[in-house]
Amino acid sequence: MDATLVARGADLAAIGNCAACHTREDGKPFAGGRPMKTPFGTIYSTNITPDTETGIGKWSSDDFLRAIRTSIVKAAISSRLFRTIISRASPTTTSKRSTPSS
Ligand code: HEC
Repeated sequence: MDATLVARGADLAAIGNCAACHTREDGKPFAGGRPMKTPFGTIYSTNITPDTETGIGKWSSDDFLRAIRTSIVKAAISSRLFRTIISRASPTTTSKRSTPSS
């Protein structure tokens, strides 16, 4: 895989703070299982590692975008934290595929 794209993905994962929710205490990074209390009960973050069996390694880009968008909608409803993340992220992050300049 293109090293520049991998670096760009790592930057976006850091900006989105994905590991914060998708890592349980003392768990493997991005492997999920972190419980989150919501007014509707406890939900658990999912495994978003590239593992093809337990993670999202077999997903297409479209699968991924769909999940991100619908999860953001669900999470935004139930999480003040996520609303903060979205309001900070939305002016600068888009789904437009751009060629990284560095
Ligand atoms: C505020 C906590 C939080 C943050 C931050 C977060 N997620 Fe999530 N994510 C969740 C939860 C909770 C779910 C499960 C939602 C559900 O049950 O529908 C989820 C679901 C997903 C899914 C669907 C996985 C599946 O197997 O269905 C993907 C993909 C995903 N997140 C990727 C990301 C990425 C990439 C980032 C960083 C840009 C990120 N998430 C940041 C909480 C978070």
